[in-house]
Amino acid sequence: MNSAEPSSKSNEPTLRGHVYDGIQEYDQKLPNWWLFTWYITMVWFVIGWLAYYQLGYGRTDHELIGEQMAKIEAVRAKELEAIDDKKLWEMSRTPEVVEAGKATFMATCVACHAADLSAHLAGVKLPGLPLNDTEWKHGGNPTQLMTIVRKGAPDITKGMASWEALGIKKITEVVAFVMSHHKEGEPVTLAADSPLKQGTAPATPSAAPVAPKS
Ligand code: HEC
Repeated sequence: MNSAEPSSKSNEPTLRGHVYDGIQEYDQKLPNWWLFTWYITMVWFVIGWLAYYQLGYGRTDHELIGEQMAKIEAVRAKELEAIDDKKLWEMSRTPEVVEAGKATFMATCVACHAADLSAHLAGVKLPGLPLNDTEWKHGGNPTQLMTIVRKGAPDITKGMASWEALGIKKITEVVAFVMSHHKEGEPVTLAADSPLKQGTAPATPSAAPVAPKS
């Protein structure tokens, strides 16, 4: 293409005179639709700036996010309100819930608590505590288990992190799966190093500590 000669027609791009590093530039007239779009954005900016930032019309992103977060919190609070020991024991006897909980357990908890919940793999102790026996460090009520799964163990350096990110549904399912290895009303003991035993960590209001049977 040999278009190096300056064009004389007004609606055609003209080649500008200067040359930098052997590069020449066209002086291209912007199309009207483009220019008008640009003018409209400028006018719109002034209107928007006045209305939003100066006159306070419309809510800020901060307020909108705050509203959405409050809604999410309300839904979560409502979901939590409906969950008590009775409900979780019920879920632990519902096969579909236990299956779903098992899937979460196998994906998330198995590395530390083992597939059979014994916290042992081929005779080797895994980092977690056994969940299939009746000795509990943080209480054996389903809601106490749920608190540990949601919040993590009080001493995070022990290795039990918060799994709140799983969401209430998955957490209740996984607790139901663990409880499916237990019987409602079975005798429960507190581990020797249980913070509930020493009274150093207050139990959650909904779940009173279980007294050791000895
Ligand atoms: C990185 C390893 C690790 C993973 C993964 C893990 N845990 Fe734990 N878990 C622990 C440790 C360590 C403890 C003991 C914490 C302590 O000593 O306070 C524990 C404690 C617990 C307890 C309390 C046991 C008791 O005796 O009171 C429950 C319940 C529990 N885990 C459930 C789960 C569930 C359910 C999951 C999966 C969502 C999970 N854990 C994932 C390491 C883990």
